[in-house]
Amino acid sequence: MELCVIEGDGIGHEVIPAAVQVLNIVVPEITIKHAVAGWDYFEQHGTPLPQETIDLVRACGAVLFGAVQSPSYPVNGYFSPIVRLRRELGAYANLRPIQYLPVPTAREGIDLVIVRENTEDLYAGQEHTEDEGRTGITQKVITREASERVARRAYQLATQTHRQKITIVHKANVLQQSDGLFRRVVLEVASEFPEITTDELLVDTAAYWMVKDPARFDVIVTSNLYGDILSDMAAAWGGGLGLIPSLSVGDGAAIAEPVHGSAPDIAGKRIANPTATILSVAMLLRHHWHLPEAANRIEQAIYATLDAGIYTRDIAHKNAVSTTEFVEQVCERLKSTTARP
Ligand code: NAI
Ligand code: MG
Repeated sequence: MELCVIEGDGIGHEVIPAAVQVLNIVVPEITIKHAVAGWDYFEQHGTPLPQETIDLVRACGAVLFGAVQSPSYPVNGYFSPIVRLRRELGAYANLRPIQYLPVPTAREGIDLVIVRENTEDLYAGQEHTEDEGRTGITQKVITREASERVARRAYQLATQTHRQKITIVHKANVLQQSDGLFRRVVLEVASEFPEITTDELLVDTAAYWMVKDPARFDVIVTSNLYGDILSDMAAAWGGGLGLIPSLSVGDGAAIAEPVHGSAPDIAGKRIANPTATILSVAMLLRHHWHLPEAANRIEQAIYATLDAGIYTRDIAHKNAVSTTEFVEQVCERLKSTTARP
């Protein structure tokens, strides 16, 4: 078992070492290989993703990725390394479970998974300006192939994890060619899984229901941009961005990546919540390496730590612990439990 670890920028340098510490306890035989990417690396070396990192990622097939800082304006030579890595590895589906954790910021009863298409849509990188910079154009690309494989992944996941319903989220009433195609293809795949109920919502209505009654959702399958936005909304019900894990999966490859970004406002203060990253590692163990007992152990240790009222500052200000203190508490609970199925 080999894992390529990329801290990236900002709190990536804090939450990734915490998750590696946990992983080393649960799977001591793992080989960790470190690689670099991100904005800081770009500023020093002129590329955000060196070829050595791409080679190492391909060789390992499994990646733990922190977060990178990306500017909101075009910078010559810069591109988002995580978007590129997902494409390099063919990690075409991003699984984002939002499940109740015992923290005061979470909503009881929340239990949903967002399956987000990971390789195309408005994030395909097809952008240009016209009219001497007065018009900006970004192409929304939706293909049958990408829609079908993400749909199949969503239905397989629902079947394996005994979930009942999949909601297709789109805006096909307006975007008939792109979202219309996505919707049609997902419905085709749905017909192969009659035991799962399928319904659909327009993305704006889905956002309304995500605020009003998130418990109505079971599995959501959607395109890249809508999945990005809806999963941050759902993260609020899950207790906050510091808690929500994700796994980008392809055929034989996976990237464990917390949903949150590099959090420049708290970077370097040692207060970042490592839970999202640690739970992302649990997803890697369960879905990529097929080690559900190891994944359960980690999830139980996180649950027990939070249940004991041990929180970082994003969850509660009073008596908040540092990133290091939090992970020490998780590790203590891990050491005192043995693997349970
Ligand atoms: P963000 O997720 O970095 O932060 C949003 C808010 O949540 C901040 O107040 C932050 O302090 C808090 N937060 C996030 N993670 C936390 C954690 N683990 N513990 C405690 N608090 C946490 O999103 P923002 O501020 O919009 O973006 C910052 C940078 O991150 C941008 O440059 C953006 O491009 C990048 N980004 C990168 C992603 C990635 O690499 N996968 C994903 C999302 C954003
Ligand atoms: Mg996002």
